[in-house]
Amino acid sequence: MQILVVYGTTEGQTEKIASFVSERLSGRANAFLSVSLSAAGREPDDIGGLEKCVANFVQASGWRPQLVHHVAGAFRYSAYGFLTRYVMKYKAYRRGAPTDTDHDYELTDWDDVARFADTFAGARTVTRA
Ligand SMILES: Cc1cc2nc3c(=O)[nH]c(=O)nc-3n(C[C@H](O)[C@H](O)[C@H](O)COP(=O)(O)O)c2cc1C
Repeated sequence: MQILVVYGTTEGQTEKIASFVSERLSGRANAFLSVSLSAAGREPDDIGGLEKCVANFVQASGWRPQLVHHVAGAFRYSAYGFLTRYVMKYKAYRRGAPTDTDHDYELTDWDDVARFADTFAGARTVTRA
């Protein structure tokens, strides 16, 4: 069975996550993996914003994913232009996230991504003690 992993990326974090998921998938059906900073948030606005975003996407695309999963992305300051870096630094400050723009900060929970991929693929995970 062939799997098509469709993604869009600007700085490369979504591409990295899509590649990771691709490698772990053995195949079935479809899912929408949404990458955002809101996914790392705890505020009601974060969750509400994500739900609205998915609803807009479903309406605009006409695609009804069988599974929707939200994954936290990254602050990739090194990839931003001057203005974007300034805006993202401010967003980070508001969220209590790191604001040192000399470094990038990955908020992605890779264990969570692995669990998603394994569940999606119906894979059994063997844990060794
Ligand atoms: C210009 C810009 C706008 C963004 N807007 C949002 C946003 O509205 N909500 C959110 O949760 N994350 C937002 N993000 C964060 C991105 O979703 C996050 O950095 C993600 O890791 C980017 O993935 P990519 O590296 O594949 O482009 C924004 C990032 C940038 C640079």
